[in-house]
Amino acid sequence: GTAARDGEPRPGGPADSPFIRACRRRPVPHTPVWFMRQAGRSLPEYREIRASVPMLESCRRPELVTEITLQPVRRHGVDAAILFSDIVVPVAAAGVDLDIVPGTGPVVAEPIRTAADVERIRPITRDDVSYVDEAVRQLVVELGDTPLIGFAGAPFTLASYLVEGGPSRTHAKTKALMYGDEALWHALCGRLAEVTLAFLRVQIEAGVSAVQLFDSWAGALSEADYRRYVLPHSTAVLSGLVNAGVPRIHFGVGTAELLGAMGEAGADVVGVDWRTPLDVATHRIGSGKAVQGNLDPCVLLAPWPVVEAEVRRILAQGAAAPGHVFNLGHGVLPETDPEVLTRVVALVHELSSRRVDQ
Ligand code: CP3
Repeated sequence: GTAARDGEPRPGGPADSPFIRACRRRPVPHTPVWFMRQAGRSLPEYREIRASVPMLESCRRPELVTEITLQPVRRHGVDAAILFSDIVVPVAAAGVDLDIVPGTGPVVAEPIRTAADVERIRPITRDDVSYVDEAVRQLVVELGDTPLIGFAGAPFTLASYLVEGGPSRTHAKTKALMYGDEALWHALCGRLAEVTLAFLRVQIEAGVSAVQLFDSWAGALSEADYRRYVLPHSTAVLSGLVNAGVPRIHFGVGTAELLGAMGEAGADVVGVDWRTPLDVATHRIGSGKAVQGNLDPCVLLAPWPVVEAEVRRILAQGAAAPGHVFNLGHGVLPETDPEVLTRVVALVHELSSRRVDQ
């Protein structure tokens, strides 16, 4: 972007938006809100586009990426867009043979087992993901003052898909490799960290206003194992972006025991699932970081008075943090009524702009 990266952002531009201000722990006119998986199957207009286009193909067509990314912004009035893509897109661009199977998730043809398998994951350049570069550039124009969030999967979560060959409840094969061949594990995660960092740099150069590193499955590990096997690699990604000029969000599920360590990885904002109240999470994460979260996505399936009470509770607990971005504790479920999401955005804005703090 053209915003002055060292000084004050252009007034009214995306870098001065409530979302970016909250990430940077600056005063905000209202608590910003967006939803993980806000673009997706909860929206009939998304299902219509995707009816005839496979998932990975849709991620590689800039005009579809742009349209799908804009849908929830138009419909809900969220404070940020998130690029429509998937965490396995850069891994496929790096040469791994994989697909995203409807109702299952990513499936890898030949799961990673050996050092030779790791070597076959090539480093990527902008040219390998030119469709992402193009989509981001289009979106930045279309979005105007609304910030666009770029994202990538963190090394552990990517490694889990590559080693298991698909989604896993226990991550048993992943942990067997991690505990059984530590050198190979670090080689794999080192290579994935390079791919992830390159992928995030492409998005930042194309103009995204923030990035989120998803380590969705890191909560499967103890804190000691997280520190030994995962933290160095996530730190390599996040610290590689320290001078990139955009806030970095780091998120995982089931991470109550890991919040302190995840904060140490170098993020500006730590995403929290619904299991940990935001005031408790703020204390665990330590000072100097904003928090993001943390409505249980299942609450959106409950009657409105339940939703409203939970939104109030989360705003009150989030006020303990130096910055709060309202979100769910994980992604929007496909069966969610999109009208409830629109009401939540309006409610968060209304309740938080009434509050006189600072
Ligand atoms: O709106 C957004 O949040 C942006 C889009 C986005 C997708 N995937 C689109 C998608 C993002 C940020 C992701 C990241 C992603 N992908 C993660 C990390 C976030 C998380 O949810 O924890 C993970 C673990 C994946 C892997 C993955 N891809 C899964 C588990 C699935 C679901 C499989 C299914 O069918 O239930 C996917 C496919 C996927 N990625 C869909 C979408 C909208 C569904 C595909 C479809 O519409 O058929």
